[in-house]
Amino acid sequence: MKLFLDTANIEEIREINRWGVLGGVTTNPSLVAKENDDPERVWKEILSEVEGPISLETTELEPEAMYRQGLDLAQMAPNAVVKVPMTPEGLNAGKRLIDDGIKINVTLVFSPAQAILAAEIGAYIVSPFLGRLDDVASDGMDALRKICDIYEIQGYDTLVLAASLRHPMHIVESALAGADIATMPFAVFKQLVKHPLTDAGLEKFLGDWKALKRELEKGA
Ligand code: E4P
Repeated sequence: MKLFLDTANIEEIREINRWGVLGGVTTNPSLVAKENDDPERVWKEILSEVEGPISLETTELEPEAMYRQGLDLAQMAPNAVVKVPMTPEGLNAGKRLIDDGIKINVTLVFSPAQAILAAEIGAYIVSPFLGRLDDVASDGMDALRKICDIYEIQGYDTLVLAASLRHPMHIVESALAGADIATMPFAVFKQLVKHPLTDAGLEKFLGDWKALKRELEKGA
């Protein structure tokens, strides 16, 4: 399972990219708006920082306008993936983009039925939102498991990207469910690496090492 950052903040992206595990980035209009900068500049910086797929979301609602915006986003860089919403208009514009050879990510997916539609138009990525389902007392992980099972049974090539993840267990459970990609906020990425026993273990190892050095210096 590839690990993606769900952010438009270049400093966060650079920090995680230094770990050598960053597979790609997902952005959405809210995340880009948080940067309070020219969206094109924000996207371009991300597209050149990370080699993997970078999802850039359309904001037009009419199919023709969404399609045209998708064409513009796609030509920004070879690793650009155009995000379209799971709406009839998004499916229409998305299918036209796919027919033009453009990779699309169908976003705002909340049910297996919607995920089947995304696969049937030949989307590159489908993005089920787990956390937002949990927020309304629905089972986000159950929806993801069903989507992964259906895709396996049907032999769909569309990659399942677990989105709206809120804590490390979401990532572990997504991997067990068979998701191809998990995208998460910077804070969750940082939580993945942390374990109190790692910190305590390292402190003890280094303490013992220093004690040995002191002993050897005394003896010299
Ligand atoms: C995915 O591509 C979305 O940007 C994202 O995961 C939404 O997550 P949120 O529910 O935390 O806003």
